[in-house]
Amino acid sequence: MGHEAIEAFLRTSRQLELVPTRANGQLAFACYLSRPGGSTAYSTGVLVLVISGDRISSITRFLDTEQQRPLPLQCDRGPSRCRIPLRQGQPLCRSPFAVRHTVLMSRYGTDAYRGLVDLPPLVEAAAKAALETGFELSSLPSQGRLLQLLAGGIDAGVIGETGTGCGVGLAWLASGAREGVRLVSIERDEKLVDLARLVFAGVPAVTVLHGDWRELRGAGPFELLALDGGGQGKADEPAIEPEEWLRPGGMVVVDDFTPGAGWPPVYNGRPDLARLRWLQHPRLLATEVRIQPDSSTILATFTS
Ligand SMILES: C[S@@+](CC[C@H](N)C(=O)[O-])C[C@H]1O[C@@H](n2cnc3c(N)ncnc32)[C@H](O)[C@@H]1O
Repeated sequence: MGHEAIEAFLRTSRQLELVPTRANGQLAFACYLSRPGGSTAYSTGVLVLVISGDRISSITRFLDTEQQRPLPLQCDRGPSRCRIPLRQGQPLCRSPFAVRHTVLMSRYGTDAYRGLVDLPPLVEAAAKAALETGFELSSLPSQGRLLQLLAGGIDAGVIGETGTGCGVGLAWLASGAREGVRLVSIERDEKLVDLARLVFAGVPAVTVLHGDWRELRGAGPFELLALDGGGQGKADEPAIEPEEWLRPGGMVVVDDFTPGAGWPPVYNGRPDLARLRWLQHPRLLATEVRIQPDSSTILATFTS
């Protein structure tokens, strides 16, 4: 069964515009609903297909928990991250395929900061910069709170981050960091670097570097290292070697995994090697923490 046939079936089931895409590396359709007479398409969710051999074994529909609003398709990340903000949808259309489950997804990234109050001032400034510039991929507030907490556990040394974006995750880290701890983040996009540098202009402990994530290693070894723009070992890119980046006892944080209940963890119908690499690394003590229903983070301490 090909994309077109599935799309044709779903089109007749509901008045949805379906846009082929990928979600968490799997085949998927972003669903849009046009209001009668209206020219704006509204995001209503995403259908994720699981393929076994040449057949579809299940379709999972992810629904938004937020209000309906006009939104563009924003799915531009690697396999681990699909940035389609979703809204609470209507009942699943009847499908000839097995429907595995329906998951309510919360808002992702930058969008999740809309309307949030009582944020640390640096986080508020970074989120504002991200919202104003249209940068969608900021760390979730729940991930940020975890970063803030972890940063507070470091009493000296350097905290690192790959992929600064507009500085939201870095702002959470800086908000939790103790006096004397330095923070260095690296970003390859020059415009984002400029924005982030403005956010941290009055914070001497923070340095934002412009370059490829691999160049961050020179600023280490790190007590805490958040991998958010390289080094996670997802997709085709290499993962960092803990002994080259971390101090003994240092911790690496890798976010944006889809929570799973089984073992071994499965991704796209196969063992999730990226996740297993962190969880089973012989020199890491690692665990996976669910930070919200649809997202988990791996924390791993380098045991020297
Ligand atoms: C998920 S976003 C980072 C979000 C940010 N850490 C935050 O908390 O808001 C990933 C970032 O990594 C950057 N990036 C991607 N590949 C990179 C590379 N090879 N070197 C440095 N940065 C990279 C992207 O430009 C993007 O800004």
